[in-house]
Parts: sequence; C-alpha cells; structure tokens
Amino acid sequence: MDKPKVVLGVSGGIAAYKACELLRRLTESGHEVRVVPTASALHFVGAATWSALSGNPVATEVWDDVHEVPHVRIGQHADLVVVAPATADLLARAAHGLADDLLTNTLLTARCPVVFAPAMHTEMWEHPAVRENVATLRRRGAVVVEPAVGRLTGVDTGKGRLPDPAEIFEVCRRVLARGVTAPDLAGRHVVVSAGGTREPLDPVRFLGNRSSGKQGYALARTAAARGARVTLLAANTGLPDPAGVDVVQVGTAVQLREAVLKAVADADAVVMAAAVADFRPQTYAAGKIKKKDGQDPEPVVLVRNPDILAEISAERAHPGQVVVGFAAETDDVLANGRAKLARKGCDLLVVNEVGERRTFGSEENEALVLGADGTETPVPHGPKEALAEIVWDLVADRLR
Ligand SMILES: Cc1cc2nc3c(=O)[nH]c(=O)nc-3n(C[C@H](O)[C@H](O)[C@H](O)COP(=O)(O)O)c2cc1C
Repeated sequence: MDKPKVVLGVSGGIAAYKACELLRRLTESGHEVRVVPTASALHFVGAATWSALSGNPVATEVWDDVHEVPHVRIGQHADLVVVAPATADLLARAAHGLADDLLTNTLLTARCPVVFAPAMHTEMWEHPAVRENVATLRRRGAVVVEPAVGRLTGVDTGKGRLPDPAEIFEVCRRVLARGVTAPDLAGRHVVVSAGGTREPLDPVRFLGNRSSGKQGYALARTAAARGARVTLLAANTGLPDPAGVDVVQVGTAVQLREAVLKAVADADAVVMAAAVADFRPQTYAAGKIKKKDGQDPEPVVLVRNPDILAEISAERAHPGQVVVGFAAETDDVLANGRAKLARKGCDLLVVNEVGERRTFGSEENEALVLGADGTETPVPHGPKEALAEIVWDLVADRLR
C-alpha cells in the first residue's frame, strides 16, 4: 500500500524547530512527508535539516524544479497538509488565497484535509485581523488547532504557544483517518470532563476512584480533530494536554461543578466522562489525621456531592444544548443504565461495564449508548477513540 502523503508546511515562527519532531513522528509512523518551508522558516531551521529528516527535496519558491510543476503537483497529490507552526502572516495569506510562494500555492491546489497549528504572541493571536482569518479558514473546512497557553518567546507567557508536536501528530492522525469529510463540529464549542474527582480527608489523603481520564481525553482529541472548540475539564489525570484544547484542571466534585457551570454557558454539547464522587467526607482535617495509641479511628462521615449531570440536564444553558453522561456499572448494566438515563435527564448515556481490570486505565472500551429518544447504539470492544467518534456522531446528529 502507498504511504499516506503528508505535506508539512513550516512558516517563520520561533517554534519551527518543534516541527522537526512532528516530521520525525510522521515519517516514523509510515507517512511520506514533503516539507515546504516558507523563506522565513529557513531563518529558524535550515533546508538541510528538513531534507535530511524527510528524505525529500526542499524548496520554498515556485521557481525551483519548474519542469515538475511543484506549485501544483505537491498539493494535488497530498492526503493531508499540516502547517506547523502557522504564523499570523501565513494564516493571512492562506485566508486571502495569496499564492506568492510554494506553500501558499500548495494550500490552493490541495483538495485534502488541511490542519493549521498557529503559534504567535498572545497579542497577535487575539488581534481581530488574525481572529477573522482563523474564522475564514475554519469556515472553509480547515482544522485550525487552538494554540496552547504557556511560555512564549522571551519572558512572557500566555496563549499562543505551539502545542506539543506529539499532540499535533495525534490531530493529524485523526484527520487523516477521517479523510476529506468536512469537520462536522466546526464552529461548535464542546465541553468534556475527564478523570476522577478526589475528595480530601486531610492534606495527604483522599477518597478517589480508578478513572484514568483516557476516555475523556479521547473525546477531547477527536472533537478537536473534527473542528470543535474544546474545553476539557480534567480531574486528576496526569495526562498531557491535547493539542488545540483548553484544559482546566480541577480536583474535587465541587470544583468540577463550578468549572462545568462556567464552561457550559456557551457550549453546544457537554460530555460528562469524568467519574464524579457521589459523596465526600463531611469534614476536612487541616492537619494529617494521626493514629492514637489504643484508640479506634474516628468513622468517616460522608455527605452527598452535587449531581452535576442532573443539574446541567435539567437547567440547560440554552435550548438545543446536547448533554451526554457516562455510567460505569459493575452489574445489571442495561437496567441500571436505563434507570440512570431517566433519572439524570440527559440526551445520551454511554453505559459501560467496569471492574478492576475493565475499562479503567485501559486503552479500550465497550459500551452501549442509550438515547433519551429510545435509541440504542452498541459500540463493540475497541479503542476508546472509536467510542469517542461514535459519541460525536450521535451528538452531531442531534446538533443538526
Ligand atoms: C525571532 C522571531 C520570532 C518570530 N516568531 C513568530 C511567531 O512565533 N509567530 C508569528 O506569527 N510570527 C513570528 N515572527 C514574525 C514572522 O517571522 C514574520 O511575520 C514573517 O514575515 C513570517 O513569514 P512567513 O509567514 O512567510 O513564514 C517572528 C519573527 C522573528 C524575527
């Protein structure tokens, strides 16, 4: 089988060096990569590096190897074009359809999916001109990955950092797998919760659960690759931030509730994949609880936590908002799932059977998705990502 052909566009940002790692990941995972840097990008990383790492010639202008008509051919034959980093300048040229170098010509001739991973200073990213260019590109079907928040060139920090190359690679992999299908969640804001809450007893101990967060992260990554703006509310996962996803870290169920209520205000869909503790210790000891000679420990009194899923289902932030819950059941999965769907009032409930070695922490999952409209969608055993895609298919149907 032919290797998938990827064009890696690199524009002139300080993060150009990170594209070397993206290139390596693409080639090592069996992709044929043609790097097309802009002239500015070569100030940061030279043509020799791109050529040696890709095993292909490198040109920036349309005037090299003219007999091969590269300004048309490279784009025509690509299965995916990814531009990382994408400068403010490159986004502007792409949005306006300029074709003044090899990369912008390639963007005009490509009929495959296109991913832009912008990186720039926060002020540039927030400028109305850049916002409009990004909106134009998204409207036309490109996946524009949100930059990460963190250290920028120099001493400042803020939004504008190129996401981790490993995470950009994940976006590319998913977009390639979906092919030319238009990003059906483009223009949508989705909120995903992931992980498991921890309810502290004292500064060193907590009541927790076995949720790893992998299913929620798979949901966040797949939604971003389908064009959504994603807010991921992460409870104690320790997983790397997915590219293009706004991550909010939370600890307890009460903190998660606050974060959910804030995030859902303008959300089109909310998927509550986090395992939220039903109860928390009534009291929190400010100092570590000590053993006392000859005395039994004090019993731990529990109080109920807020039921976030039921609350956001009952009081939708706006009509048409789709709410999805997860039910982890250890027995009588179907009956418990149906009862929970009715009790919570959400639109979809993903029911899976869990146990010590099932689902939690594993890369795979198996589920039955119950719809409030009576539908049942069985999801066979497979990667958590496959379940995530089916959840978004069902959400996208309902948003339409
Ligand atoms: C040290 C340095 C770092 C830069 N980093 C960025 C950046 O991260 N993002 C950006 O949009 N522009 C950045 N620029 C400005 C671009 O290089 C400049 O806009 C250039 O015209 C971009 O050309 P290109 O889009 O054709 O690659 C940087 C410039 C310099 C000198």
